[in-house]
Amino acid sequence: MKATESDFHAWMGGVQTRMESTLARLLPQPQVAPARLHQAMRYAVLEGGKRVRPLLAFAAGELAGAAAERLEIAAAAVELVHAYSLAHDDLPCMDDDVLRRGKPTVHVQYGEATALLAGDALQSLAFQLLAEHRLADDARAQLEMVRALAAAAGSRGMAGGQQIDLEATGTALSVPALEFMHIHKTGALIRAAVALGAACGSLPDGERQALDRYAKAVGLAFQVVDDILDAEASTATLGKTAGKDSRQGKPTYVSAMGIARARELAETLRAQAQSALQGCGSRARRLAALADFIVLRKF
Ligand code: IPE
Ligand code: IPE
Ligand code: MG
Ligand code: MG
Ligand code: MG
Repeated sequence: MKATESDFHAWMGGVQTRMESTLARLLPQPQVAPARLHQAMRYAVLEGGKRVRPLLAFAAGELAGAAAERLEIAAAAVELVHAYSLAHDDLPCMDDDVLRRGKPTVHVQYGEATALLAGDALQSLAFQLLAEHRLADDARAQLEMVRALAAAAGSRGMAGGQQIDLEATGTALSVPALEFMHIHKTGALIRAAVALGAACGSLPDGERQALDRYAKAVGLAFQVVDDILDAEASTATLGKTAGKDSRQGKPTYVSAMGIARARELAETLRAQAQSALQGCGSRARRLAALADFIVLRKF
Protein backbone atom coordinates (compact mmCIF):
# COMPACT_ATOMS: atom_id res chain seq x y z
CA MET A 1 0.00 0.00 0.00
CA LYS A 2 1.31 3.47 -0.87
CA ALA A 3 1.85 5.96 1.95
CA THR A 4 -1.05 8.16 0.79
CA GLU A 5 -3.36 5.13 0.69
CA SER A 6 -2.43 3.99 4.17
CA ASP A 7 -2.89 7.56 5.41
CA PHE A 8 -6.39 7.59 3.89
CA HIS A 9 -7.25 4.21 5.39
CA ALA A 10 -6.12 5.38 8.82
CA TRP A 11 -8.23 8.54 8.48
CA MET A 12 -11.24 6.52 7.32
CA GLY A 13 -10.90 4.07 10.22
CA GLY A 14 -10.66 6.99 12.62
CA VAL A 15 -13.86 8.61 11.35
CA GLN A 16 -15.69 5.26 11.35
CA THR A 17 -14.68 4.54 14.95
CA ARG A 18 -15.60 8.05 16.04
CA MET A 19 -18.99 7.73 14.34
CA GLU A 20 -19.71 4.40 15.99
CA SER A 21 -19.29 5.88 19.46
CA THR A 22 -21.08 9.12 18.51
CA LEU A 23 -24.09 7.21 17.19
CA ALA A 24 -24.09 4.84 20.19
CA ARG A 25 -24.14 7.88 22.49
CA LEU A 26 -26.78 9.86 20.59
CA LEU A 27 -29.25 7.01 20.08
CA PRO A 28 -31.64 6.31 22.97
CA GLN A 29 -30.19 3.69 25.30
CA PRO A 30 -31.59 0.19 24.75
CA GLN A 31 -33.10 -0.21 28.23
CA VAL A 32 -35.05 3.08 28.07
CA ALA A 33 -38.77 2.67 27.44
CA PRO A 34 -40.10 1.85 24.89
CA ALA A 35 -37.14 -0.51 24.97
CA ARG A 36 -38.05 -2.60 21.94
CA LEU A 37 -38.27 0.48 19.71
CA HIS A 38 -34.96 1.81 21.01
CA GLN A 39 -33.32 -1.59 20.52
CA ALA A 40 -34.60 -1.70 16.94
CA MET A 41 -33.26 1.81 16.27
CA ARG A 42 -29.85 0.84 17.58
CA TYR A 43 -29.94 -2.40 15.62
CA ALA A 44 -30.66 -0.46 12.41
CA VAL A 45 -27.77 1.95 12.91
CA LEU A 46 -24.94 0.41 14.94
CA GLU A 47 -22.28 -2.14 14.03
CA GLY A 48 -22.43 -2.03 10.31
CA GLY A 49 -22.26 -0.05 7.16
CA LYS A 50 -19.43 1.71 5.43
CA ARG A 51 -20.44 5.10 6.87
CA VAL A 52 -19.85 6.70 3.48
CA ARG A 53 -22.10 9.68 4.20
CA PRO A 54 -20.36 10.54 7.51
CA LEU A 55 -17.01 10.14 5.75
CA LEU A 56 -18.12 12.61 3.09
CA ALA A 57 -19.37 15.04 5.73
CA PHE A 58 -16.05 14.85 7.61
CA ALA A 59 -14.00 15.24 4.44
CA ALA A 60 -16.00 18.28 3.34
CA GLY A 61 -16.00 19.70 6.86
CA GLU A 62 -12.26 19.30 7.31
CA LEU A 63 -11.77 21.17 4.03
CA ALA A 64 -14.00 23.94 5.41
CA GLY A 65 -12.09 24.10 8.71
CA ALA A 66 -14.98 22.72 10.78
CA ALA A 67 -14.59 21.38 14.31
CA ALA A 68 -14.93 17.61 14.67
CA GLU A 69 -17.47 18.12 17.50
CA ARG A 70 -19.81 19.77 14.99
CA LEU A 71 -19.08 17.33 12.20
CA GLU A 72 -19.92 14.27 14.23
CA ILE A 73 -23.42 15.62 14.90
CA ALA A 74 -24.09 16.66 11.30
CA ALA A 75 -22.70 13.33 10.05
CA ALA A 76 -24.82 11.42 12.56
CA ALA A 77 -27.96 13.22 11.39
CA VAL A 78 -27.32 12.19 7.79
CA GLU A 79 -26.43 8.61 8.78
CA LEU A 80 -29.64 8.30 10.83
CA VAL A 81 -31.72 9.34 7.81
CA HIS A 82 -29.75 6.84 5.71
CA ALA A 83 -30.32 4.01 8.24
CA TYR A 84 -34.03 4.84 8.31
CA SER A 85 -34.14 4.70 4.50
CA LEU A 86 -32.51 1.25 4.56
CA ALA A 87 -34.91 -0.13 7.20
CA HIS A 88 -37.86 1.01 5.09
CA ASP A 89 -36.25 0.00 1.77
CA ASP A 90 -35.95 -3.57 3.09
CA LEU A 91 -39.59 -3.89 4.19
CA PRO A 92 -41.75 -6.53 2.47
CA CYS A 93 -43.82 -3.76 0.84
CA MET A 94 -40.65 -2.35 -0.76
CA ASP A 95 -37.61 -4.50 -1.68
CA ASP A 96 -38.53 -7.34 0.69
CA ASP A 97 -34.98 -8.05 1.80
CA VAL A 98 -33.97 -10.33 4.65
CA LEU A 99 -30.26 -9.46 4.92
CA ARG A 100 -28.60 -6.08 5.51
CA ARG A 101 -25.09 -5.31 6.70
CA GLY A 102 -24.57 -9.03 7.22
CA LYS A 103 -27.47 -9.31 9.66
CA PRO A 104 -31.20 -10.07 9.40
CA THR A 105 -33.05 -6.92 8.32
CA VAL A 106 -34.80 -4.83 10.97
CA HIS A 107 -38.27 -6.21 10.21
CA VAL A 108 -36.99 -9.81 10.25
CA GLN A 109 -35.50 -9.20 13.68
CA TYR A 110 -38.19 -6.98 15.23
CA GLY A 111 -41.31 -7.33 13.06
CA GLU A 112 -42.66 -5.03 10.40
CA ALA A 113 -44.50 -2.58 12.61
CA THR A 114 -41.47 -1.96 14.83
CA ALA A 115 -39.20 -1.62 11.77
CA LEU A 116 -41.56 1.01 10.41
CA LEU A 117 -41.59 2.94 13.68
CA ALA A 118 -37.83 2.60 14.13
CA GLY A 119 -37.36 4.21 10.72
CA ASP A 120 -39.78 7.00 11.60
CA ALA A 121 -38.06 7.64 14.92
CA LEU A 122 -34.57 7.63 13.37
CA GLN A 123 -35.63 10.33 10.97
CA SER A 124 -37.09 12.44 13.78
CA LEU A 125 -33.96 11.99 15.86
CA ALA A 126 -31.84 13.25 12.95
CA PHE A 127 -33.70 16.57 12.90
CA GLN A 128 -33.76 16.78 16.68
CA LEU A 129 -29.94 16.60 16.65
CA LEU A 130 -29.70 19.39 14.09
CA ALA A 131 -31.93 21.53 16.27
CA GLU A 132 -30.25 20.74 19.61
CA HIS A 133 -26.60 21.32 18.78
CA ARG A 134 -24.84 24.42 17.64
CA LEU A 135 -23.38 23.46 14.27
CA ALA A 136 -22.89 26.70 12.37
CA ASP A 137 -21.69 30.15 13.35
CA ASP A 138 -24.97 31.86 12.65
CA ALA A 139 -28.59 30.76 13.00
CA ARG A 140 -29.42 31.21 9.33
CA ALA A 141 -26.64 28.88 8.25
CA GLN A 142 -27.85 26.28 10.72
CA LEU A 143 -31.44 26.61 9.53
CA GLU A 144 -30.17 26.04 6.01
CA MET A 145 -28.65 22.73 7.17
CA VAL A 146 -32.06 21.64 8.47
CA ARG A 147 -33.68 22.67 5.21
CA ALA A 148 -31.09 20.89 3.11
CA LEU A 149 -31.44 17.58 4.96
CA ALA A 150 -35.24 17.80 4.91
CA ALA A 151 -35.27 18.47 1.18
CA ALA A 152 -32.80 15.64 0.54
CA ALA A 153 -34.89 13.14 2.49
CA GLY A 154 -38.29 14.22 1.24
CA SER A 155 -40.57 13.75 -1.75
CA ARG A 156 -38.23 15.66 -4.03
CA GLY A 157 -35.25 13.77 -2.70
CA MET A 158 -34.79 10.24 -1.32
CA ALA A 159 -38.45 9.40 -0.63
CA GLY A 160 -39.41 10.65 -4.08
CA GLY A 161 -36.68 8.53 -5.66
CA GLN A 162 -37.94 5.49 -3.77
CA GLN A 163 -41.46 6.12 -5.12
CA ILE A 164 -40.07 6.25 -8.65
CA ASP A 165 -38.19 3.01 -7.94
CA LEU A 166 -41.39 1.27 -6.82
CA GLU A 167 -43.36 2.47 -9.82
CA ALA A 168 -40.57 1.50 -12.22
CA THR A 169 -40.17 -2.05 -10.90
CA GLY A 170 -40.97 -4.50 -13.68
CA THR A 171 -40.49 -1.88 -16.39
CA ALA A 172 -37.50 -0.69 -18.39
CA LEU A 173 -36.37 2.92 -17.92
CA SER A 174 -34.48 5.09 -20.38
CA VAL A 175 -31.05 6.20 -19.20
CA PRO A 176 -32.24 9.78 -18.44
CA ALA A 177 -35.15 8.37 -16.39
CA LEU A 178 -32.77 6.08 -14.50
CA GLU A 179 -30.50 8.99 -13.79
CA PHE A 180 -33.45 10.97 -12.46
CA MET A 181 -34.40 8.08 -10.14
CA HIS A 182 -30.86 7.52 -8.89
CA ILE A 183 -30.01 11.15 -8.21
CA HIS A 184 -33.13 11.31 -6.07
CA LYS A 185 -33.13 8.02 -4.20
CA THR A 186 -29.39 8.02 -3.45
CA GLY A 187 -27.72 11.15 -4.80
CA ALA A 188 -29.74 13.63 -2.77
CA LEU A 189 -28.62 12.34 0.62
CA ILE A 190 -25.00 12.12 -0.48
CA ARG A 191 -25.17 15.71 -1.67
CA ALA A 192 -26.65 16.69 1.69
CA ALA A 193 -23.82 14.89 3.53
CA VAL A 194 -21.25 17.04 1.72
CA ALA A 195 -23.27 20.24 2.12
CA LEU A 196 -23.88 19.71 5.85
CA GLY A 197 -20.25 18.90 6.48
CA ALA A 198 -19.13 22.02 4.65
CA ALA A 199 -21.73 24.13 6.47
CA CYS A 200 -20.17 23.20 9.83
CA GLY A 201 -17.18 25.28 8.75
CA SER A 202 -16.87 28.10 6.27
CA LEU A 203 -16.04 28.17 2.60
CA PRO A 204 -16.07 30.76 -0.17
CA ASP A 205 -19.10 30.39 -2.45
CA GLY A 206 -16.96 29.14 -5.34
CA GLU A 207 -15.59 26.25 -3.30
CA ARG A 208 -19.02 25.42 -1.90
CA GLN A 209 -20.32 25.16 -5.46
CA ALA A 210 -17.34 23.04 -6.49
CA LEU A 211 -18.08 20.66 -3.63
CA ASP A 212 -21.69 20.42 -4.76
CA ARG A 213 -20.60 19.53 -8.29
CA TYR A 214 -18.35 16.88 -6.76
CA ALA A 215 -21.21 15.56 -4.61
CA LYS A 216 -23.62 15.32 -7.55
CA ALA A 217 -21.15 13.19 -9.51
CA VAL A 218 -20.30 11.01 -6.52
CA GLY A 219 -23.96 10.61 -5.56
CA LEU A 220 -24.91 9.22 -8.96
CA ALA A 221 -21.73 7.13 -9.14
CA PHE A 222 -22.60 5.61 -5.78
CA GLN A 223 -25.87 4.14 -7.04
CA VAL A 224 -24.40 3.10 -10.42
CA VAL A 225 -21.80 1.09 -8.47
CA ASP A 226 -24.51 -0.27 -6.14
CA ASP A 227 -26.31 -1.55 -9.25
CA ILE A 228 -23.08 -3.12 -10.58
CA LEU A 229 -22.26 -4.78 -7.26
CA ASP A 230 -25.78 -6.22 -7.00
CA ALA A 231 -25.10 -8.00 -10.30
CA GLU A 232 -21.43 -8.84 -9.78
CA ALA A 233 -20.61 -9.36 -6.11
CA SER A 234 -21.60 -12.13 -3.71
CA THR A 235 -24.07 -11.99 -0.85
CA ALA A 236 -21.21 -12.74 1.54
CA THR A 237 -19.15 -9.73 0.44
CA LEU A 238 -22.10 -7.37 0.19
CA GLY A 239 -23.79 -8.37 3.44
CA LYS A 240 -27.06 -8.05 1.52
CA THR A 241 -28.71 -10.45 -0.94
CA ALA A 242 -26.91 -10.26 -4.29
CA GLY A 243 -28.66 -10.53 -7.63
CA LYS A 244 -31.95 -9.18 -6.34
CA ASP A 245 -32.33 -6.35 -8.82
CA SER A 246 -32.68 -8.62 -11.83
CA ARG A 247 -34.83 -11.14 -9.94
CA GLN A 248 -37.20 -8.35 -8.90
CA GLY A 249 -37.19 -6.66 -12.30
CA LYS A 250 -35.63 -3.43 -11.04
CA PRO A 251 -34.49 -1.10 -13.77
CA THR A 252 -30.79 -0.43 -13.08
CA TYR A 253 -27.76 0.83 -14.97
CA VAL A 254 -26.81 -2.81 -15.46
CA SER A 255 -30.17 -3.71 -17.02
CA ALA A 256 -30.13 -0.54 -19.13
CA MET A 257 -26.58 -0.65 -20.51
CA GLY A 258 -24.81 -3.79 -19.27
CA ILE A 259 -22.01 -4.07 -16.72
CA ALA A 260 -19.18 -2.87 -18.97
CA ARG A 261 -20.86 0.39 -19.94
CA ALA A 262 -22.13 0.98 -16.41
CA ARG A 263 -18.54 0.62 -15.22
CA GLU A 264 -17.41 3.15 -17.84
CA LEU A 265 -20.06 5.57 -16.65
CA ALA A 266 -18.90 5.16 -13.05
CA GLU A 267 -15.36 5.98 -14.22
CA THR A 268 -16.60 9.07 -16.09
CA LEU A 269 -18.40 10.24 -12.95
CA ARG A 270 -15.28 9.61 -10.88
CA ALA A 271 -13.32 11.83 -13.28
CA GLN A 272 -16.03 14.51 -13.06
CA ALA A 273 -15.88 14.40 -9.28
CA GLN A 274 -12.09 14.74 -9.31
CA SER A 275 -12.14 17.62 -11.74
CA ALA A 276 -14.69 19.50 -9.62
CA LEU A 277 -12.11 19.46 -6.80
CA GLN A 278 -9.24 20.86 -8.84
CA GLY A 279 -9.46 24.42 -7.52
CA CYS A 280 -9.33 23.23 -3.89
CA GLY A 281 -5.85 21.71 -4.10
CA SER A 282 -4.58 19.34 -1.42
CA ARG A 283 -7.28 20.41 1.06
CA ALA A 284 -9.63 18.24 -1.01
CA ARG A 285 -7.48 15.11 -0.79
CA ARG A 286 -9.92 13.25 1.48
CA LEU A 287 -12.84 13.98 -0.85
CA ALA A 288 -10.73 12.89 -3.81
CA ALA A 289 -9.80 9.63 -2.11
CA LEU A 290 -13.45 9.04 -1.18
CA ALA A 291 -14.54 9.39 -4.81
CA ASP A 292 -12.01 6.67 -5.66
CA PHE A 293 -13.21 4.52 -2.77
CA ILE A 294 -16.86 4.88 -3.79
CA VAL A 295 -16.26 3.91 -7.41
CA LEU A 296 -13.64 1.20 -6.81
CA ARG A 297 -15.22 -0.43 -3.75
CA LYS A 298 -15.99 -4.14 -3.79
CA PHE A 299 -18.91 -4.00 -1.29
C1 IPE B 1 -26.97 1.22 0.34
O1 IPE B 1 -26.15 2.21 0.87
C2 IPE B 1 -28.20 1.82 -0.20
C3 IPE B 1 -27.98 2.79 -1.26
C4 IPE B 1 -28.32 4.01 -1.14
C5 IPE B 1 -27.35 2.34 -2.49
P1 IPE B 1 -24.71 1.90 1.43
O2 IPE B 1 -23.96 1.03 0.47
O3 IPE B 1 -24.06 3.16 1.85
O4 IPE B 1 -25.04 1.02 2.72
P2 IPE B 1 -24.23 0.87 4.07
O5 IPE B 1 -24.58 2.06 4.91
O6 IPE B 1 -22.77 0.80 3.76
O7 IPE B 1 -24.76 -0.40 4.67
C1 IPE C 1 -31.84 2.03 -2.01
O1 IPE C 1 -31.49 1.54 -3.24
C2 IPE C 1 -31.81 3.47 -1.94
C3 IPE C 1 -32.36 3.94 -0.66
C4 IPE C 1 -32.90 5.08 -0.58
C5 IPE C 1 -32.29 3.12 0.54
P1 IPE C 1 -31.36 -0.04 -3.27
O2 IPE C 1 -32.67 -0.67 -2.99
O3 IPE C 1 -30.64 -0.44 -4.50
O4 IPE C 1 -30.40 -0.28 -2.02
P2 IPE C 1 -29.92 -1.72 -1.53
O5 IPE C 1 -29.26 -2.37 -2.72
O6 IPE C 1 -31.13 -2.44 -1.05
O7 IPE C 1 -28.93 -1.41 -0.45
MG1 MG D 1 -34.66 -0.18 -3.15
MG1 MG E 1 -33.04 -2.34 -1.67
MG1 MG F 1 -29.14 -1.88 -4.65
